[in-house]
Amino acid sequence: VTEPLCVHDYELLARERLDPGCWAYYAGGSGDEWTLRENRAAFARWVLRPRVLVDVGEVSTATTVLGQPLSLPLVVAPVAYLRMAHPEGEVELARAAAAAGTIYTLSTMATATPAEVAGAVPGANRWFQLYVFKDEGLTRSVVEQAREAGYSALVLTVDTPRLGNREGQVRAGFNVQFGVPALGAIADAKLAPQDHFRELVAGATTWRDLEWIAELAQMPVIPKGIMTAEDALLAVEHGAAAVAVSNHGGRQLDGVAGALDALPEVVEAVAGRVEVLVDGGVRRGIDIVKALALGARAVLAGRAPVWGLAAGGSEGAARVLELLRAETELALALVGAASPDEVVRAHVGRT
Ligand SMILES: Cc1cc2nc3c(=O)[nH]c(=O)nc-3n(C[C@H](O)[C@H](O)[C@H](O)COP(=O)(O)O)c2cc1C
Repeated sequence: VTEPLCVHDYELLARERLDPGCWAYYAGGSGDEWTLRENRAAFARWVLRPRVLVDVGEVSTATTVLGQPLSLPLVVAPVAYLRMAHPEGEVELARAAAAAGTIYTLSTMATATPAEVAGAVPGANRWFQLYVFKDEGLTRSVVEQAREAGYSALVLTVDTPRLGNREGQVRAGFNVQFGVPALGAIADAKLAPQDHFRELVAGATTWRDLEWIAELAQMPVIPKGIMTAEDALLAVEHGAAAVAVSNHGGRQLDGVAGALDALPEVVEAVAGRVEVLVDGGVRRGIDIVKALALGARAVLAGRAPVWGLAAGGSEGAARVLELLRAETELALALVGAASPDEVVRAHVGRT
């Protein structure tokens, strides 16, 4: 047995290590999991169009998002309840992201507080993902915790007025065992962890809420879960600093397009006014290069770093990120681009 060489190897290791319920939670999608599969299938429908005899003697994967430096065009996506994957969960993954030179996004539904994660990895750049709660005081409290702990952008998840139906978790008899310390006593006292989302998260959030949230946060807001040109335009009109094309890793509305297939219409609609991110199905450096060619500034990766975390803690997650960086560097060299900025639309074509 060789050491794991790619994200797929880490996925196999994670599957061995996690109990079946946790595996169902992390790996699964909603409904028939058609959209979950489409996230991968969408990448396979685009082919790379390499340009040769370009000077790629020195290739750099470094880039920026919102002016913030990244060692590769990848931000670690928010994933809930990481103590199920590793005893130190979010803190370990934040360490890995910092070691890899990229940004970690902490979920609202994290098993560590924003301050704990910030304290464990001082100096690292972090984003915070927000779910808006029915109780405005709770929303304010969570945003203030992120602001005070120095998070530099707010990823506002907009595709989750309710939770998608994730039958795999039900079949596996899975229940979340961990609380969400950022929610404090409000949540802990009254509710079992698996009910946090259903009972607390607001389903009635609208575009109008974007403005007070941005003002409260005093940081750039990135709506995550945009799948149409129409909503991309609304996001820009309402002051979004960037938009994230996402179907929540196939866990929300089954039957929506693979995220990469929704990317071109969003890129066209925003027409360069804000940066566009995309997530869903990123497992290889070539996926990142395809996303760049279709107009993304960077990708987010959810499950890939979590497989590394489950397999080998912070080291495993850092290694997954480094593998993706090295694969991206090689892919850039082989398509004839010395940096992410040199990737253009003509580097991909339809199969
Ligand atoms: C187990 C799991 C938990 C997630 N939790 C959150 C969350 O708390 N907040 C959020 O905005 N997105 C959440 N997501 C969605 C991810 O941020 C991201 O959109 C998705 O994982 C991207 O697809 P990928 O896993 O194929 O990279 C979660 C995804 C997974 C797999």
